[in-house]
Amino acid sequence: MPVEWWLDESEYAGEEHLDEEYVAGYDEKAQVDPSDDVRRLIDLGLGQDSVLVDMGAGTGVFALAAAETGASVVAVDVSRAMVDVIRDRAEESGLDNITVVRAGFLSYDHALDPADFVYTRNALHQLPDFWKVIALHHLASFTRSGGYLLFRDLVFDLQPDEVEEGIVDWMAGAVDDPAKGFTEQDLAEHVRNEFSTYTWVLEPMLERCGFEILERDSRRKAYGTYLCRKT
Ligand SMILES: C[S@@+](CC[C@H](N)C(=O)[O-])C[C@H]1O[C@@H](n2cnc3c(N)ncnc32)[C@H](O)[C@@H]1O
Repeated sequence: MPVEWWLDESEYAGEEHLDEEYVAGYDEKAQVDPSDDVRRLIDLGLGQDSVLVDMGAGTGVFALAAAETGASVVAVDVSRAMVDVIRDRAEESGLDNITVVRAGFLSYDHALDPADFVYTRNALHQLPDFWKVIALHHLASFTRSGGYLLFRDLVFDLQPDEVEEGIVDWMAGAVDDPAKGFTEQDLAEHVRNEFSTYTWVLEPMLERCGFEILERDSRRKAYGTYLCRKT
């Protein structure tokens, strides 16, 4: 029997994301407004003939807004607590074009036509870099050629000699109230315990996995947005 080496993603999901109480307060803390991203994807053709996968969908705020376009949306998350919230919201919304799947970047089994759009926000950093490559390769495997990946996450646009100053600058933007945003404590824990990487590590990963980077943006040298096309 071979030794098991595959990652158990739920062990890396971030304890808080598995915790019902944290999940109940997540939207107030994260303050996600999906409208700009939905509009951006509509401009790229998102509509009722499209298939969109939201990987690491959290409480489903983006997935539900994307489903309003009529697209077939799959909201995927590894956390049972998150998935329960998305299912309840999908049911309340009456939308029948959203499928909710409890799975992860590595384990998700895509059952629809190849995806025209993959969206992932603030989730890939949960995986160490070795696994990010496998995750991105997997996303590419079910995205159609010419399909789009809109990727957002904490990614440090810092050279080695800029790291200490860069992290201090970024932390200066933290909030005081943990219910309404991310505090310095939260950000410090993120740097210590999670796997946000550097732009110059992530970008070759995206390209190596078959995603051409069309647009890139970095906020506070800590938060990256990439629009990519599957080659
Ligand atoms: C910070 S939340 C972001 C949620 C949502 N995308 C948003 O922008 O608000 C990170 C989400 O990723 C999920 N997650 C963590 N590891 C994952 C994995 N390996 N595969 C899929 N989802 C994962 C967590 O359960 C959590 O819902």
